Amino acid sequence: MKDFLCINDCTVEQLQELLDESAALKKLYKSGGRDLCLSGKALAMLFEKPSLRTRISFQVAMTDLGGSPIYVKPEDIGGIGKREPVKDMARVLSRYVDGIMARTFDHSTVTELAQYATVPVINALTDWSHPCQAMADVLTIKEHLGKLNGVKLAFIGDGNNVARSLAFAAAKLGMKLVVASPAGYELDLGSVEKANHDKAGSISQTNDPAEAVADADVVYTDTWVSMGQEDEKQKRIEAFAGFQINAELLKNAPAGAKIMHCLPANRGYEITDEVVESANSIIFDQSENRLHFQRALLKKLMSTK
Ligand code: CP
Ligand code: NVA
Repeated sequence: MKDFLCINDCTVEQLQELLDESAALKKLYKSGGRDLCLSGKALAMLFEKPSLRTRISFQVAMTDLGGSPIYVKPEDIGGIGKREPVKDMARVLSRYVDGIMARTFDHSTVTELAQYATVPVINALTDWSHPCQAMADVLTIKEHLGKLNGVKLAFIGDGNNVARSLAFAAAKLGMKLVVASPAGYELDLGSVEKANHDKAGSISQTNDPAEAVADADVVYTDTWVSMGQEDEKQKRIEAFAGFQINAELLKNAPAGAKIMHCLPANRGYEITDEVVESANSIIFDQSENRLHFQRALLKKLMSTK
C-alpha cells in the first residue's frame, strides 16, 4: 500500500488493519502515551479547497507522531498544475518530504501526483471521493454499534464524493448502505457496480428517503452543495426539498437510529439544528475520529519503524 487514494483499491485486510490501528492509537493518546514513529519526517499538505477538519486533524496527527506537517496554500505555489505541471511538483516534493496529501477538485490530480511521486500520496478529498472521511465514519459506527458487518446505513442526499467513499467502505466491510437521492442526483451506476462487485456488503439506491431510513441503524447526510458547485446552489436547494433529515423524516426510522454528518453542516438545509443537537447524534465523535484515523494512516504509509 503506497498511496491512499480510493477505498476500493484497498483490501479488506488493509482496511481492518487501519481501523484496528486507529483504535489502538486512540487509546494510547487518550491515556497520555505517544508513538513518535514519524520523527524527522515531513508531510506536504496541498489544498485547492477550504478545510477545517481535514487540515487541522492531519496537522495534529503528524505532529503527534513526531513529524512535521507543511501546509501549503494554493496561492503560495501558484496553484496545483498551474505554475508547473503536477508531475513536476510530485517529483520535486518527493525529494524534500516523506509524504504528500492533497485536496483537489479533479480526482486525476491526486492520481497523477501518486503516479509521479516516490513518496506516499493521500487523497484529502477530491470531487470524486473522500476516503479519509469514510474510514473515520466506519470507525465511529464500529465504536457505537460494536460491529460493522450487517449494519444498515441510510445516506440521504447527494450521490457525491462522501456517499461514494462510504459505498466503497460499506461494501468491503459487510454493511448494507441505501443511498436516497432525488432523481438526477444519484450515485453513478458505475460506482455502485464497482462497490457491489464481489463484496461482503451491499449498496442500493432509492428516490424515497422515508423508505431508506425505515430499518436504518445509522442515518447519514452531507451538504447538497459541495465545494465547487456554488453556482448550482438555488437549483440544488429546490431539487433536494424533501431530503432533509428532520424530526418528521426520522418518524420513519427506528427510535435509536444514530445520526451522522461529515460536516460542515448547513442547518435548515440537509439537516435541522434539532437533529444535529439530538441525543442520537454522533456527529462530533465522527469529527474527532478523523484525527484518530489520520494518525493510523500516516503511520501505516510513512513509518519505517
Ligand atoms: N469533513 C471534512 O472533510 O471537513 P473539512 O472540509 O473541514 O476538512
Ligand atoms: N461533499 C462535501 C464534503 C465536504 C467535507 C464537499 O465536497 O464539499
